[in-house]
Formats: sequence, structure tokens, C-alpha cells
Amino acid sequence: MNVEFLADWKAFRLETEHSVYLMQIGKAGDLRHVYYGPPVARDHALFDLSSRIERAFSPYPEGLSPAESPDLAPLEISGFGCGDYRNGAVTFEKENGNCATSLVYDSHRIVSGKPSLPGLPASFAENGAARTLEIRMRDLFSGVRVVLSYSVFGNSDLIARSIRVENTTKQRIVIRKLMSAQLDFHTGNFELLSLHGHWGNERNFVRRKLERGATVIRSLRGMSGSHSTPAFALASPGTSEENGEVYGVMLLYSGSFHAEIELDPYFSLRAAIGLEPENFFWNLDPGESFQAPEALILYSNRGLGEFSRSCHRFLRDHLIRSPWKNRRIPVLLNSWEALYFDFNESDLLRTAREAAALGMELFVLDDGWFGKRNDARSSLGDWRVNPEKIRDLGSLSRRIHEEKMMFGLWIEPEMISVDSDLYRQHPDWVLQVPGAPRSLCRDQLVLDLARAEVVDFLFESISSLLHSARIEYVKWDCNRNLTEVFSSAYPARRQGEICHRYMLGVYELLERILAAFPGLLLESCSGGGGRFDAGMLYYSPQIWCSDNTDAVSRIPIQLGTSLFYPVSSMGAHVAASPNHQTRREIPWELRGALALSGSFGYELDPSHLSPEEKRTVRAQIVCFRKYAELIRCGNFQRLDETFGANDIAAWGWVAENQDEALFFLVRKTALPWWYGPRTVLRFRGLNPDKEYCLESSGEIIHGSTLMNAGFLLLNFGWECECKSFYFRAVREISSGKNAALLSPEVPTSAGIRRM
Ligand code: DGJ
Repeated sequence: MNVEFLADWKAFRLETEHSVYLMQIGKAGDLRHVYYGPPVARDHALFDLSSRIERAFSPYPEGLSPAESPDLAPLEISGFGCGDYRNGAVTFEKENGNCATSLVYDSHRIVSGKPSLPGLPASFAENGAARTLEIRMRDLFSGVRVVLSYSVFGNSDLIARSIRVENTTKQRIVIRKLMSAQLDFHTGNFELLSLHGHWGNERNFVRRKLERGATVIRSLRGMSGSHSTPAFALASPGTSEENGEVYGVMLLYSGSFHAEIELDPYFSLRAAIGLEPENFFWNLDPGESFQAPEALILYSNRGLGEFSRSCHRFLRDHLIRSPWKNRRIPVLLNSWEALYFDFNESDLLRTAREAAALGMELFVLDDGWFGKRNDARSSLGDWRVNPEKIRDLGSLSRRIHEEKMMFGLWIEPEMISVDSDLYRQHPDWVLQVPGAPRSLCRDQLVLDLARAEVVDFLFESISSLLHSARIEYVKWDCNRNLTEVFSSAYPARRQGEICHRYMLGVYELLERILAAFPGLLLESCSGGGGRFDAGMLYYSPQIWCSDNTDAVSRIPIQLGTSLFYPVSSMGAHVAASPNHQTRREIPWELRGALALSGSFGYELDPSHLSPEEKRTVRAQIVCFRKYAELIRCGNFQRLDETFGANDIAAWGWVAENQDEALFFLVRKTALPWWYGPRTVLRFRGLNPDKEYCLESSGEIIHGSTLMNAGFLLLNFGWECECKSFYFRAVREISSGKNAALLSPEVPTSAGIRRM
């Protein structure tokens, strides 16, 4: 890890474990992107300013040559209206109405460590094991300062980038557009990888070829949402799990976001991510500054598998703060699909008692416990227990703890029901345009968290709730997105700030609650998996992945999510069969496999289980305890290239020391195996120089054989069939040569074992 200023070339060099990033100050003072990829030397040829490109009719700064046209240059940060006709990163509107923005280098400094960002989620480096480069730029049209930050970390290839605007001038400006990171490439021969979906089918993996023109991935919902994810990757064509170059970009933000990937007419590529400009602008008065959300970038040339593992490691080590990230989390039972809104105190106690008897450790009381809420139409905002259902939360929690279970509670702090005492007291506390029509969603409105008094009220009411009983876990739900974004607490000229101010209010509230209750295990959720973004992981180590608890349809959801986010952060539960969303009958093995491939818990009524099913649940919990450490800390391996889209899917974990591994293999739909095609399951991530014992059979097999020859699947054809393979290393063979002797080359077309 290193950051250097190369004075001879007026260039900056960032070095991570396996990549180098280079920038150079251009003749016009602009900051040009020079290189990002595998390590290169400090070679003068890289910085030769004479080798600029010229094209017909490209504007250039007066006094310089056409080769200095900003339209052709790979730039670190592009402005607006000065001859760079691609999508820009920064636009400032000045008092005279001019929006032309052009940023030039001013000064820089290199500091130790990774600064935090006020009010926003941000990566961190424990023990200061990071270096940060800050480059100050100046807008030629206003003098406003823009500070670009780049941090590199001791043990990672990810680079944290952010951008801050400081109004050092005497005039007010309006920030019209501000991308957190821009990546320019001379050539654009990439496939774009991103995650898309909707409620019940979030974060499916999408791979597309880029054509000339701009592709936009965004959310206009005021929240990240189920439909798209604030992250994308650019991969060399045909990149597989094990081979190929990948550049990744992730935004640490939970509000509306905008990613644009533009292949220009000359096939050069510009990619950028940041705040969605369509519902954002920001007034910056003299002396004020504005910090944009942080973005993470990553280069990897070892395929998508290693790309994802690098992201997972970084998010675990440098973003997730919760003390729970280093502990085995308790096995929970969530009351939602067990009881929905229909329960009283004795139902809850009975369910908790039965769950405890099966080995579960945390009882989570989901929606329906407060106000007079018996369906989704009322009481959001009235965070007091419903006395018709529960005597008081303190005694309920005590009695649940007496059953040797921890206690968790569902809340939805950002929302308000029209039928609530809170709304009757503060009808002006909602986002709405006064006197104009407004939109409901799930019968609820959104509280105006841009207002300080609303954030204060929520902090007080949630803290007093958390003080009123022993509550170790909170599920923080959020069942709608923003509409009619207008705050009566702000003047007309500031209404474009409300979307972002709302998110700053959410972050402030989360920060204050976690500071007051540091041991709390927080799971965020938004109508299922609508809040899976890296910003939220800063506050909650786990995020509910989807309301679709059907293990078959969760495969592409969870594998898609794993492109960027760690498996240990995915909320996943074993639900009843037939499934409540799809009516599909799903065997226990498969339901268990999907829950184990996440945070693991249950979402069913244990009193509906037969004695045999109870034995199965007990055995699953024993399995979870056995594998929890491997799943939390192991290296995740996807065994096919489709992120769960195929009929057969396989994935697993290999311990860092490669001594232990667990894999799951699933067939979604039935196929008569006597005429089905053969499949070879080849394992990944094992040590080819180790011998492994397959626990289920006691068979000893070489790592090289498992990875190169694999298992031949002949009769693996039942609907929802699921197999698990747990390997333990039993012997290490001293050299690669030896390994080859013991395990002669086997053609990869032939698996070694029939199933
Ligand atoms: C949506 C969540 O995703 C569900 O798990 C559940 O908590 C409901 N809300 C409760 O209203």
C-alpha cells in the first residue's frame, strides 16, 4: 500500500496489494486519468504528455493545442459545458446563472489513515493502516474548491474515493450534479455487470454488452430499493468465476443513486456513480461545504470469484462496524410468517418456548405489537405496546429470557400511518406538498427525516422503547419509498436537498441509536430486500435479503447479492412448506441450505411441526453451529457461472487455511435422471496439494481431483434436491510434483464419482 507524488511528471501513484492507479496533472491544469490495472513500474512512457489524441471538431482551451481537448481525455473528474460532451461528474450553478464548470489542480497532501466522513457511512482502517491522498481542485468559473480523496488500505485492493465541495468564495452556488467517483478508460471493451429485480426477486445478476451511448443504472426512489443496486462492475468479455479482468464500483449510500456508463463514439468508456441528479441539488452558501457519499473501486484480474471475495473481505474488515461481525449470531425465530398480525402474549410465549426447545436462541417479535395495529393500515409512529395483545414489553422480554432466549423487536421508524396518534399530533411531519395530492403506499406516509425535530423525536421514542425492555436485536423495516418529496421546514430554494437530507436524517438516527446501544444487533429491511446497499452495512451487519422465503427462488437472489456483499450479511430464514409466497413444497435440506447461506434463522410456527420435523430442525441447528465460523469467515465460492439462473446451482465456502470446506448443490426442477444430461461438479478454492476426507462417506480424495475432475452427477434429478459436501483436509502433500504423482491428470470432462 502506497501513495506517492511523482514530481518529475506531476503525477500521483496509488498502489494497492495487486493494482496501481495513476493520475497526472495536464497542461490545462486538469487532472487526467493515466492508468488503473495490474502493477506497472514508475515508467516515464506512461506520463508522456506529448502523446495526446486529436480528433476533428473537439473543443480545446484557448491557448492550447487541439490535443488538449477535454472531450478526448481520460479525466479523474469532469466538469460541464467546456467541451467535454460526455456525461460529466460536477456541475455548479453560479449566481449569474452560468453552469459551466471546469476543475483544475490546485494543491495536494498525503496523510496517514482513512478519515471518516461527517454524517455519512465511510470505510475505515483500524490501526491507521491506510494512506489518503487529497487533491484540491478549483472551479475556473467560480473559484469553488473541490477536494478529491483517494484512500488505499494495507491488506486490500479496494480504493475508497470521495469528493467534497468547499465554497471558499463570496457567492452562493448550487451543486447541480456531483458524482462520487468517475473512471475513464481509453478503450471500452467491457461487459457491464449489475443487479436488478423487484419485490420478492431482488438483485438478480445481469450481464450486458455495452454499445455506444450511455447506460444508466439508478434509483429515483429516495432509497436504494429492490429494483437496482448502487454498485456495478465492468468485466472483460467472457470473464468467468476464475478468469478475467473486473473493475468494480460500489457506492456507500442508501438513497437515490445514479450510475452512468457511457461508451463514447470512439469506443472510450466513462463510468461514474453518485447522487441521482434528477432529485438532487444543493445550495452552498459562502463558507459552507458539502460532502458527497463515498465510493469504493476495485480492480481484479482473477475473475469474478476473487473479485467478490475481495469485496466481501473489504466490507467485513473496513466497513461493517458492528461487534456482531466477529461473533456467531444467535439462531433466531421471527414471528412474521409464524403469526403475522394475529397473536397475543400467550401465543408469543408458546412460540418462544417451542423455539427454545428446538435450540433457537433469539425470539424476534415482528410487526403488529404496537398501537392498535392488527393489519398494515394503522399505528406506525405509535411505538407503544398494544395492551390488548401484550401487557408490557418489559415483562414479555423477561419471560422470553426465562425461556433462555434473547429478545428482538421489529420497528419501522421512518414511517407514519395516517391512522396514528403521531399523525394526529403532527400532520405536518410527513413528506408532502401542502394542499396537493399525495401518494400512499401500504397505507402509509413517510416521516420528514430532513427535520431535526423528527429525528430527535424518533431517537427519544426508540431509545425509550429499547430502555423499556431487554432488547438485543432490532429489525428496522421500511415499507415504502419516497414520493412528493417536499419539506415544509425548508424554504423553496432548498427543496432539491430534501431527498438527501432525508437520508442524512436516517443515518443520524441510526448513528445516535447505535451510540446509545452499542451492543444492539441491527438488521435492516425494506419491504424485503429493498435496502441492501453498502451504506446500510455500516450500521447493520445484516440486511433482510428478500420477503420471498421460497428457497428455490432465493437462489438467484442470494447468489446475485454475493457479487458484491458478504454472505454473512444476508438475512435468510427457513420458512414453512408449502411456502407462503409460492405455495411450493420444498424439502428441509434445501430450505436449510439457503438459510445457512446467510444469517440463518427460522420464520415458521414451531407448533405446526411434527416430531420428525422437530428432529430435523434440531439437527439443522447443530449443523449451523458447526459451520457458522466457516460460513462467516470462509472464502465464498460460486461453482457455476450463472449466479443461480441455471436449473442446477452450486456454491460453498473454503476456510482461509483451506483445511475445511462446505458446498451445496441444488437442482431446482425435476428432470427424469435416466435421460438427463450428465453434469460434472468441480469444486473451487481447495488446496490441490491437500487430501480431503468427504464427511458423508469417509472417502479420501485429493484437492486436485476434486477441483479438476470433480464429481460426475448422473442421478441428481429430483425436484428441489439438495446435497451438501463437507470436506476436511487430512494430509498435505509436500510439493506440487508429489501431488501430480498421487493424482494423475484426469480429463476435465470426466467426473470421478457417480451420484
Ligand atoms: C416487510 C418485511 O420484509 C417482512 O419481513 C415483515 O417484517 C413485514 N414487513 C412486516 O410488516
